[in-house]
Amino acid sequence: MLVRRTLLGAALGAPMLSACATSGPPSADPMVPLPHDPDSNARPNEARVRHVSIDLTADFSRKVLAGTATLDIATAPDAREIVLDVQALTIRSVKDAVGATLTWNVGASTETGAPLTIALTPSTRRIVIAYETSPEAGALLWLDPAQTSSNKQFVFSQGESILTRTWLPTQDSPGIRQTYDARIVAPEGLKAVMSAEMLTPDGEATQGGRAYRFRMTHPIPCYLISFAIGDIAFRATGPRTGVHAEPQVVERAAWEFADMERMLERTEQLYGPYRWGRYDVLVLPPSFPYGGMENPRLTFATPTIIAGDRSLVNVITHEMAHSWSGNLVTNALWADSWLNEGFTTYIEGRITEALYGADQYAMSNSLAWAQIQTSLRTLQPDSTRLHKLANIGPDQSSSAIDYSKGALFLRTIEGVIGRPALDAYLRSYFDRHAFQPMTTEWFLADFRERVVHGDGTLEARLMLNQWAYDPGLPSNAIEPHAAAFDRVATVVAAFNAGGPASAVPWANWGTYERQRFLQTLPRDLSRARLDELEHALHLNAVGNDEVLFDWLMLAVRADYEPASASIEHFLMAQGRRKYVQPIYRALMQRPGWGPALARRVYARARPGYHPVTAASLDRIVTN
Ligand code: BES
Ligand code: ZN
Repeated sequence: MLVRRTLLGAALGAPMLSACATSGPPSADPMVPLPHDPDSNARPNEARVRHVSIDLTADFSRKVLAGTATLDIATAPDAREIVLDVQALTIRSVKDAVGATLTWNVGASTETGAPLTIALTPSTRRIVIAYETSPEAGALLWLDPAQTSSNKQFVFSQGESILTRTWLPTQDSPGIRQTYDARIVAPEGLKAVMSAEMLTPDGEATQGGRAYRFRMTHPIPCYLISFAIGDIAFRATGPRTGVHAEPQVVERAAWEFADMERMLERTEQLYGPYRWGRYDVLVLPPSFPYGGMENPRLTFATPTIIAGDRSLVNVITHEMAHSWSGNLVTNALWADSWLNEGFTTYIEGRITEALYGADQYAMSNSLAWAQIQTSLRTLQPDSTRLHKLANIGPDQSSSAIDYSKGALFLRTIEGVIGRPALDAYLRSYFDRHAFQPMTTEWFLADFRERVVHGDGTLEARLMLNQWAYDPGLPSNAIEPHAAAFDRVATVVAAFNAGGPASAVPWANWGTYERQRFLQTLPRDLSRARLDELEHALHLNAVGNDEVLFDWLMLAVRADYEPASASIEHFLMAQGRRKYVQPIYRALMQRPGWGPALARRVYARARPGYHPVTAASLDRIVTN
């Protein structure tokens, strides 16, 4: 029997191309010019990292990683120095391949780290950096035994967007790709896994623990270099797919994600070969700050998508789709993260349609449309652009815009040019730009060259520039229709007219209908009406976190205090930022009970949240 715990361990009672407009995307040349990245100190057109060799030991007692990073670099003919990104690292020494000390200097720190500048000689090709991380490293979460299912220690990294610099001194910009290899020393009894091929599944005895070796032979951006250490078991789900998780979770995870092999085959049929070898999922402890993270060969996922009925596997579909959009063809700058997330959301939808049917696809598109409309009403117009202006930081972009507006852009193109033409284009896009960076500008140039061919009528119907660069939604956006939601609307209308909650056909509905119902109920329902819903539908105890989240948001905004225990439980049980951030924010806006509840729960829950979650919540839950 699996004991569900809070994040803290108490058992739970309830369940050099300066934006040159005409150039196309880059070639495989190691020094192909990259646009300036405002979120990195690197100057990749002078010198750039090509391979990283990691040798680190995890010290759980001090919550630090210590060891070396060896960087192989390529340089322009006149390069005098290379600039890396570092944040909260202690640098012990910087040497070249033969052990000669190189001159180095860490510049002024900002909120996003500092430049580590290393002087090069004309023959410097390799740099060996001895260093140590800080217990406060923004990418790392060190968990005590009480915070895991296995009751053993656990640590994991989360690099996207710009956190890799807190555990690895390298050029932290998504346009710069490197291969890597690694040796990770874990305490005896624990296992290390990485976003790479595992060379030593059982590890090798070494001083101070067990050493695990890995290698990634495809060039990847460094935000995808990631590791985890814990009591990690494995179950296959197919010839190329499987699940890594703590022993207490691994069977349930393998059952939940049983469709992975089919998903992979379907995605390959549409978009070309899966180029990474294996596709496995690592299920993390519930503090994992995202639903999923597309680390190559090894998606990291929250255990909260194991709903017991496979109703949240779209998160896996999404992360798998990133094996094409994001991991093969990567946004060169975070300002273009819609190229990662919007393309991926589009592909996620197409795989959902192929595997689970047109009704599911229509409902998810309709929910996404509603999210876009909410964003357009509530965000600053500048934040509703796909390509972001320079003043919007990498973590401030709205998911409804990058994900849902981005996907709607591709569905709009599909509506104009037809599905076969878009499928053929995307397939060739992934083939031609595999393992290369992409910008909005390069994508539009490529699409025009391959598809539009200067056809003025077609250009006018597509409205490509408006989609890519303007706020809001272009006039050719079409609202998706889901027949199942017409039926939900009838139920909502009957309830609003005073009908009983017992008439709501909850048991006949899936996740999407339930979400639609909760999202379209009026914001100001009375205590009596909410009581009725709670008693008829047992909403405080819903097991599906997407649905529970929608209910709790409704409850908070309507000052429905009887949901307090469920809210507290939800905030303590998992640390997915997409859920906890809006709930805390909504609570802080409910004078009387909300801020007090938020502060009390946050004080207890914070140590169990990942630093990326805690950092955003510190700004919300204030005294
Ligand atoms: N790459 C993202 C997670 C991410 C985004 C991490 C931005 C850091 C910065 C991942 O692929 C993702 O989108 N996850 C979603 C899944 C959902 C859209 C199905 C999530 O975690 O909610
Ligand atoms: Zn994604």
